[in-house]
Amino acid sequence: FSDFLTDTFSRQHDYLRISVTERCNLRCLYCMPEDGVPLSPTRELLTTPEILLLSSVFVSQGVTKIRLTGGEPTVRRDIVPLMRQLGTLRPHGLHELCLTTNGISLHRKLDAMVESGLTGINLSLDTLDPFQFQIMTRRDGFSAVRKSIDRILELNRHGAGIKFKINCVVMRGRNDREILSFVDMTRDHDVEVRFIEYMPFDGNRWNEGKMFAYAEMLDTIRAAHPGLHKVRDHPNDTSKTWKVPGFTGRVGFVTSMTHNFCGTCNRLRITSDGNLKVCLFGNDEVSLRDIIRQSNGGEPIDEAAFEAMKQMEMNRRQDLAGSDSRPLGVVPTESELLNVI
Ligand code: GTP
Ligand code: 5AD
Ligand code: SF4
Repeated sequence: FSDFLTDTFSRQHDYLRISVTERCNLRCLYCMPEDGVPLSPTRELLTTPEILLLSSVFVSQGVTKIRLTGGEPTVRRDIVPLMRQLGTLRPHGLHELCLTTNGISLHRKLDAMVESGLTGINLSLDTLDPFQFQIMTRRDGFSAVRKSIDRILELNRHGAGIKFKINCVVMRGRNDREILSFVDMTRDHDVEVRFIEYMPFDGNRWNEGKMFAYAEMLDTIRAAHPGLHKVRDHPNDTSKTWKVPGFTGRVGFVTSMTHNFCGTCNRLRITSDGNLKVCLFGNDEVSLRDIIRQSNGGEPIDEAAFEAMKQMEMNRRQDLAGSDSRPLGVVPTESELLNVI
């Protein structure tokens, strides 16, 4: 494994998340203000050739998994060609090519993406009630999301083998009563439903009272399914996986607020304007975009990125040593969350 991706804690950063747009076609209460987020000028955003160049450098250095995120990645006009070109890295060490999406326009692009090499989809859905959907996302669109889910399941019935997860952010008083309905989705379908603890950031009106913690989610599910049991997690998973006996799928929990998982985190992040980040909650960023644009084929970008990463790791040691849970109420900035989520 190349030193390039191994940090001072011996963690091998082989999972790269790339935000391909800041834009989104929903306005989820916990994520975006009603008016959306201020958008960067196009010239500051990574172009498709730049995304491809960076991806191939990272894959050549040992990245085996790429996830496209946003904003909402499917609103990027050329998302399908981008995916197709990333798919060409599959024989060169890229084992997984994944997408995190809200599913609104996915059904129109899904087949082409799967043909291009998409291997995994994490679809965000916080409610199974169309009316509540409209409240939580400030938009219509429940039926479009259902259409995407149905199509994913259908492709999988025909052997597509897409690793499928549904992300559900639980907010007390909003959708916490739907936890068991979501668990029911795992009865007959090979899907992992993941409940995410509501996280704070500037302007999303987070308060501790609205957070529904992992322990309480477990209690809620156990009351209906006493046999709920833990299954083994992949070493770098940020979620904890459980299963109801006899159900086909699994139930996961992303416990960002109550049990931090920094010690096993293997993610690198590139924001839509080309900044490399090693930590969702860190402020350290280095512009790979500027490195590419200034290098003009001069200094190899992997060396420049390597230096940048080493620098960030030095700054980060301090943060990691000693802490084993993220204190409640430490608020990441909006750009930290929105650009890289
Ligand atoms: P897989 O592990 O590949 O299934 O995906 P993922 O969980 O990395 O990605 P996804 O985009 O589905 O994100 C799910 C949730 O995890 C979101 O709420 C993210 O904000 C959160 N998340 C992702 N990475 C990190 C991280 O490093 N730290 C914290 N605290 N939360 C994270
Ligand atoms: N708290 C928890 N999860 C969040 N997401 C977006 N904002 C928040 C927040 N404040 C989730 C989305 C999506 C994933 C990438 O991040 O619902 O599933
Ligand atoms: Fe869009 Fe995802 Fe944010 Fe919802 S959570 S507004 S779908 S980026």
